[in-house]
Amino acid sequence: MKRILVTGVGGIGGVNFIRSLRLVEEQCYEKFFIVGTEYNIYYIEFPEVDVKFRTPKHSDENFIPTLVKLIKSYSLEFLHPHPSSEAKVVSEFRGLFEDVGVKLYLPRPEDIMPSKFYMYEKLKSNNVPVPETIHLKSMDDIDEAFEKLGSPLWIRAISGAGGRLSLKVQSPEEAKMWVKLNSLQGRAKIEEFIIQEYLPGRDLVFDSLWFNGELITSYARERIEYPFKHISLTGITGTPSVAKTIHDDEVNSVGIAAVKALNPNPHGFYSVDLRGDVNGKPKVTEVDGKWHTTAPLWGYSMAKVYGKPEYNIAYLYIKLGFNEKLNWSLERVNLFPEEHYLIRQMDSGVILKFNENVWRVV
Ligand SMILES: Nc1ncnc2c1ncn2[C@@H]1O[C@H](COP(=O)(O)OP(=O)(O)OP(=O)(O)O)[C@@H](O)[C@H]1O
Ligand SMILES: [Mg+2]
Repeated sequence: MKRILVTGVGGIGGVNFIRSLRLVEEQCYEKFFIVGTEYNIYYIEFPEVDVKFRTPKHSDENFIPTLVKLIKSYSLEFLHPHPSSEAKVVSEFRGLFEDVGVKLYLPRPEDIMPSKFYMYEKLKSNNVPVPETIHLKSMDDIDEAFEKLGSPLWIRAISGAGGRLSLKVQSPEEAKMWVKLNSLQGRAKIEEFIIQEYLPGRDLVFDSLWFNGELITSYARERIEYPFKHISLTGITGTPSVAKTIHDDEVNSVGIAAVKALNPNPHGFYSVDLRGDVNGKPKVTEVDGKWHTTAPLWGYSMAKVYGKPEYNIAYLYIKLGFNEKLNWSLERVNLFPEEHYLIRQMDSGVILKFNENVWRVV
């Protein structure tokens, strides 16, 4: 029996992470005792955990002490903070967790939710393809950006998830109005924006698991559709409703290079977002020591449909986190077969589709 604390279990990623571990109990000789924490008073009802516990927000001074207390009272051996905001503070305070003997398998704090401009500089200096980007300091920089980079451009907040405050802008006037409105309404000041080359191509993802600098396994996919796209300004609403696995050497090699640029010795789960430029060449818009929302769901779906626990990425992560050997020889890239579609929509379950085969996985 493995005794685990998972935080943020009510979020979509957290629910899928727990679901993946419960599948392991059906497929392998494993048992988990899971304490799950969640801030949201409603979503805490979703995950199949043994003990549910409400925590304050990650920014509250009682967040870390609450986790330490739970670890002690339930004799927990491993801590997995799922949402990146929670993973970042846990990584910052890792000494406190090591003191109570709980295992962690986390990237260093600077790898988690880095600012977009920090990423851009790291990637560019390591020759990883990135969209040309300018960090705005004044409204005049917007004119300069259009002169230098052309039109249209993509403007967004320098930090935050879900494409925060992003917008495709055709002219300096549009960009200035966007900055003005958002600073007037108190969301972000001008110095909190970047503006960059607009990438019109394929919306791509590279997800990877690393251990002490070694790539354990990875897979790539293409996002096809986002939910509620028609009621958002950019059409990008965070996590896709339809995506498919791809085998693409260029995406794999750029993805690996992006993670290595962020940290030459990566340790934990790392996600990369890429998008095709006007010539279809993938450029990196984000590299982050975080779990993409659907990463555990892909693992769950593939493991369930093919009866292969080695596809269950949450399980690979837990085994490595417990310092256990993996019993399978895994491909470093292209973990999953290609051309599989993961189709999901609120209240409609989850479908995996490959050619004429349709599996209802949730
Ligand atoms: N320069 C760009 N041109 C066009 N689209 C872009 C550009 N940069 C980002 N996007 C789109 O916006 C999406 C979100 O961007 P990105 O992943 O960089 O931001 P994020 O805030 O970290 O989002 P999330 O937390 O959801 O991953 C990308 O997957 C991509 O589809
Ligand atoms: Mg992203």
